[in-house]
This record gives sequence, structure tokens and C-alpha cells, in this order.
Amino acid sequence: MKIVICSDAAQTRRLAAQVLAQQVKSKPTSVLGLATGRTMEAIYAQLAETAQQQPLDFSRVTTFNLDEYIGLTADHPQSYRYYMQTHLFQLINIPVVNTHVPDGAAVDVEAEAQSYEGRIAQAGGIDLQLLGLGENGHIGFNEPLSALNSRTHVVTLAQATLRQNAGMFNNDMEQVPARALTMGTGTILDAREALLVVTGEAKADIVARVIEGPVSALVPGSALQLHPHCLVLLDEAAASRLTQREAILWQMQHDPELRTFLSA
Ligand code: GLP
Repeated sequence: MKIVICSDAAQTRRLAAQVLAQQVKSKPTSVLGLATGRTMEAIYAQLAETAQQQPLDFSRVTTFNLDEYIGLTADHPQSYRYYMQTHLFQLINIPVVNTHVPDGAAVDVEAEAQSYEGRIAQAGGIDLQLLGLGENGHIGFNEPLSALNSRTHVVTLAQATLRQNAGMFNNDMEQVPARALTMGTGTILDAREALLVVTGEAKADIVARVIEGPVSALVPGSALQLHPHCLVLLDEAAASRLTQREAILWQMQHDPELRTFLSA
């Protein structure tokens, strides 16, 4: 893992957007793995702004989202398809046929999971996977205790996740769909590059477990320790419980790749 501690959330989202923009510039046919959640909203806003200014061409980019609630149709305002249309796809020049989100309204969700995995393979695999972190350590919707080598599958969401995401559903846990389709942790680990972005004090404890704890199914995000090319962007608040802060700052100053990235 390469870790960057940013001065604040604004720098975190600027750097995250920079990584995505650089990926698209250096490989215009990139396959991007995308994420949802509040953290990503600001990153997509920044990326859309960058795309307009530079300009950035997304016409040959393909995207695969991590997950989707089961039972929500694409036009449901809380579906992740709707989220992606609103926060990113309609703001950049990506053809909608190039964008993939698991179909949570599929009649046969198990078949949809398999076909999704197949479509990722057919596209040549994911070049760069963007990830957020749930407060319980989930990545995508891979909840604690799920297999670390899983492929795209159907999950029953943890109570903590229903609570965390209730904000999007009138603060009513009962309204949050209890099941979802998600890329597996194994699918995520297969991406050629991974970019984990976490901000805020509320996630400081889980960030410490993801980065410094043992690799464990209890903390699915800890599987990223096994990824050969994983960049983690944190703000000061999210990094506040790390014991290795000094070592991380040292790397930021001396690792040539990080120095180039941070001075861009
Ligand atoms: C949802 C998504 C996750 C995301 C998490 C973080 O649960 N399925 O992929 O990482 O939200 O959300 P937030 O950024 O709102 O804290």
C-alpha cells in the first residue's frame, strides 16, 4: 500500500480526481471500477470539473460500478445507477452503453452476478478500481466475514450498513434494501490498480484496522494489503488513529512515485 495523508478533505478529493483523470489521459480506453457513497460525490464533482477544463475525453472509457441494491430500478433516486447518472455520467462525455452497474431489478440476481463478472472479464479486466470504505470496513458491499476471494455475488447487508446508509432513505433503516449485488473482494483485488479514498473522523478506527491490522474477513478492506498497487488517500481526520503516521509521512517525502504525484 502507498498511503497519502492529505491536509483536508478538499485535497483528498482533488488528488483522487487527479488519479482518475491521469488514468483516462494515459489510457483513453481505460476500464474504470467506480464506487458510490457520500465520499465519492465530491470526487465526481471535481472530476467533472477537471474534465471540462482540460478537456478530458471519456468517449472510449468503460466503467463498472461496485454494487447495487437489489429491488431498486435504475430510475429509483436511491439506486446506484441513478446516483452515477446524476453525479458523474451526465456530466462527462461517456456513452451510457459503456457504463455498467449491476442490475438490482434483474429477475434472476444470481445470474446477473455471474454475467456481471463475465462482462468485466470481457472488457479485459479493471484498470483502476476506485473504492470507499464503510464504517464497518466493507468495500463495495462485501460485509465483515465475507470470503476474501469472492467474485460478484448477492449479499445480505449488515445491520451497521443499513444504519449507515439510512440517511439516503429518509433516515429509515426499514426502507434500505436488505440485499445487494456486489463485486466480490476477489474481483476487486484483480483490478490492476486500486484507489481507496477515506475521509472523516468517524472512519479513523476502521482505517487503522484496514491499514495496520491483520488481513481478516472481519475487516474486508484489510484485503487491500494484499493488492500489489493500492494507493490510499486519507484526510487528517481519517488518518488520526494510525500508529505509523511518521513512517507514512517519510514515504510521502521520499518515495519517487509519491513525490511526483504530490507535486503534479
Ligand atoms: C456504500 C457503498 C460502499 C461505500 C460506502 C461508503 O455502502 N456500497 O461502496 O464505500 O457506501 O459510503 P460513504 O462515503 O457515504 O461513507
